[in-house]
Amino acid sequence: FHVDIDASDTDKGTYPYYMLKEIDEQPNVMRKLSSEYLNEDGNPEIEEDLLKSIKQADRLYIVAAGTSYHAGLVGKNLFETMAQIPTEVHVASEFAYNMPLLSKNPFFIFLSQSGETADSREVLVNVSKAGYKSLTITNVAKSTLSRESDYTLLLHAGPEISVASTKAYTAQIAVEAILAKGLGEADQIKAATEFNLRQQLGLVATGMQTIVDEKEKMNQLSQDYFVNASKSFYIGRGIDYFVSLEAALKLKEISYIHAEGFASGELKHGTIALIEDKTPVIGIITQKNTSNLTRSNLEETMARGSKAITIVTKALAKEDDDIIIPDVNSMLTPLLSVIPAQLLAYYTSLNKGLDVDHPRNLAKSVTVQ
Ligand code: G6P
Repeated sequence: FHVDIDASDTDKGTYPYYMLKEIDEQPNVMRKLSSEYLNEDGNPEIEEDLLKSIKQADRLYIVAAGTSYHAGLVGKNLFETMAQIPTEVHVASEFAYNMPLLSKNPFFIFLSQSGETADSREVLVNVSKAGYKSLTITNVAKSTLSRESDYTLLLHAGPEISVASTKAYTAQIAVEAILAKGLGEADQIKAATEFNLRQQLGLVATGMQTIVDEKEKMNQLSQDYFVNASKSFYIGRGIDYFVSLEAALKLKEISYIHAEGFASGELKHGTIALIEDKTPVIGIITQKNTSNLTRSNLEETMARGSKAITIVTKALAKEDDDIIIPDVNSMLTPLLSVIPAQLLAYYTSLNKGLDVDHPRNLAKSVTVQ
């Protein structure tokens, strides 16, 4: 079967802004990726040569910028769990001029919505010169990074117009999951063979739909606690921390509210000094082993006057939680926990009367270093 992205990819249709359209498209992007990459048995169809090339590596280096970097951070867990390959994630502009000591056989993965980011290209040019193999995961076929690396996997997300990236982030994580599963399958690694990715991407798509259908709730939260806020925090641990970095980036880039994503355990080592009366602090809680710790870190901020808000999976939810998201495999929760944050950023920008799709000082694609 085949799922197409909305007929009019570059037309806003009845949407006031591209960003909202692109948020809403995410369930379809998940279905599209499932049909593009998974065969009838639910196993990834990835060119043998790419899998072989990665298998020769002793370490993966994911290099990216901005939102794509945040998608890379989530990918580390997928590659290390399902493919059991040690994985490092680096900001391209740093890696280019302060390269860490590489492993003996590195393999590079470039994540880039546009495939044109100059910082990432600088790294690609250097590692190619050094003779290392690379894969670009991008939304744009024939983009510079795609042309210049050895392999390409496409995001199939349809054009992303809004400067604030949404569907490219979730598509990148889904493609990382597909690749990690493909690598793990080839080696019969249990974490991969027992992971029913097709079923999971189906659950993710349905879950995303539930969240976007309840978007008015995020509008209300935005009006109640964010429109008049000057600063805010997202906190979490592990992959919830990585999502909090992306969640904070969304909010700051289009609402201009100072937002920080923080490792929840680290907050008390300094940054908690910034909490004042009614400072919104959002805890992302999707991982069983750390949920109580993040909850107590949230309470620490409440004791200093914060307005604490929770984004929590159904399985871990308690009576007073604010935003309950559907349960999916614990490696894929970022695909759902980020959606309320995207919506909150959208509504806060909208409610402040800002131009959601064209935030000040920002460009969709950054082709200078
Ligand atoms: C710009 C965009 C961001 C994006 C980043 C990396 O800063 O405004 O949304 O995440 O570039 O872009 P890329 O196309 O490489 O993913």
